[in-house]
Amino acid sequence: EANAYLRAPGAPMSVVAHRGASSAAPENTLISDETARRAGADWIENDVQPSLDGIPHILHDDTVNRTTDGQGRIRDLTAAQLAALDAGSWFSPLHAGARVPTLRAQLDDLRTRGGNLLLEIKGKHTKDEVARIIRDIRDTGMSGRVFVQSFEVDALEFTHELAPDLPLGLLRSALDADPVALAKRLDLKAYNPSAGGLAARPGVVADLHRAGVAVMVWTVDDATGWKTLEAGGVDAVITNRPAELAGWNAAW
Ligand code: G3P
Ligand code: CA
Repeated sequence: EANAYLRAPGAPMSVVAHRGASSAAPENTLISDETARRAGADWIENDVQPSLDGIPHILHDDTVNRTTDGQGRIRDLTAAQLAALDAGSWFSPLHAGARVPTLRAQLDDLRTRGGNLLLEIKGKHTKDEVARIIRDIRDTGMSGRVFVQSFEVDALEFTHELAPDLPLGLLRSALDADPVALAKRLDLKAYNPSAGGLAARPGVVADLHRAGVAVMVWTVDDATGWKTLEAGGVDAVITNRPAELAGWNAAW
């Protein structure tokens, strides 16, 4: 069947706002997501991990130390403890009071305000933990606007088993020996290499396209890099600077 995530001839590369518009607002918060939306991002990328009491939350690191005023591993903190943290002041006093969103709050916000979510299942998850993520997506009616990606093959397999309708992308720092075979085995809609990984073997884009698999590349913030990806046929760019990429796309 056709893959809707492939770039049509002549169309610009899709703009994916990495952790929201994370160059302009505190990453992985509702304000960085809103900033991305206003910048014209096609997708908002967020990372999801469970709290101690099993509630999926939006956070990149395995601790809250860098991006909040708290300390500790997210998996050692309850949802109530996470809700009390300030996730904005570290970035700017203007953003004091921003919160670590639950996935549920994030999905409710997307449903109300618009946008599509590239949701990264961050780190090892059990099948029950993945099931909890899928429950939030289903309960909020957002299945049609979520794309799941992960470095963890397990997490993608669990997702596929529990929710075969959700599109999947495999994140990679370095390319696999045979990305096409892996994409077929995992029924991927996208293969998502780092820019450095892709640069080692740029011809893999054409190989994946022949197999009907899209390519989303991370994390590229400068016009020189965007130009290389555009020329190489890449479908989507994950960037910390969505407003600038949207502007570059419009001018290109
Ligand atoms: O979306 C790709 C990118 O987010 C993967 O790296 O560490 O920023 O989650 P990281
Ligand atoms: Ca990520």
